Amino acid sequence: MARVRVHQHVNPLSPFYCFTPKPIEIGNVFAVPQLPLHLDIGCARGRFIFKMAEIFPEQNFLGVEIREPLVVEGNRLARENNLTNLHYEFNNATRSLDRLLENLPVEVLQTVTIQFPDPWYKKKHAKRRMVRGNLVETVVEHLEIAGRIFVQTDVEFLAEEMFEIFRDNRGLREIEISGNPFPIKTEREIAVEEKNLPIYRAMFTK
Ligand SMILES: C[S@@+](CC[C@H](N)C(=O)[O-])C[C@H]1O[C@@H](n2cnc3c(N)ncnc32)[C@H](O)[C@@H]1O
Repeated sequence: MARVRVHQHVNPLSPFYCFTPKPIEIGNVFAVPQLPLHLDIGCARGRFIFKMAEIFPEQNFLGVEIREPLVVEGNRLARENNLTNLHYEFNNATRSLDRLLENLPVEVLQTVTIQFPDPWYKKKHAKRRMVRGNLVETVVEHLEIAGRIFVQTDVEFLAEEMFEIFRDNRGLREIEISGNPFPIKTEREIAVEEKNLPIYRAMFTK
């Protein structure tokens, strides 16, 4: 089947993406809402959490993505494959992740992944980068005690910038890791590894 065609990058600060989402009600999207939740922010086509949802039926997986056609396609594939522990949401995480997660029950969010976010290389575009203080605060607020946040990128300056924002958050502690702790790689990770380029990874816990 043909892949859904989308713009390669979208500007999260453009008026089109300034919408206010409805808070997610996990009882409406997962068959067993009380399962531990894994949130993947900037999931693109969502293949990472698709495969994770197949391997780990005892967890729920929520993908957040700003390119809506990918969200529609992801939810269609989840339905067709009877993955009742997998759901995707159209959301601009830079602006309104807090609103999306507003009604999330406490002590449900166990894992958060942010993998290869768009680097926005130019200085004048720095504000478009996804990992900013407000996003980290939202994630920390909802993360359960001892929950984990995994961040990876192939862009060195972005790794330094993102890891510093996480390190500055007083609610988090960094954990040493020797590689990717998950059994599945994202599409971007596979592409980077095929080119033998370095990947910068960090893990934090609450
Ligand atoms: C380079 S891709 C990486 C995708 C995937 N995580 C991977 O590792 O293959 C970055 C993704 O983040 C999404 N994204 C960028 N800004 C976003 C935002 N503000 N909110 C939600 N998703 C965003 C992009 O649309 C894109 O799908």
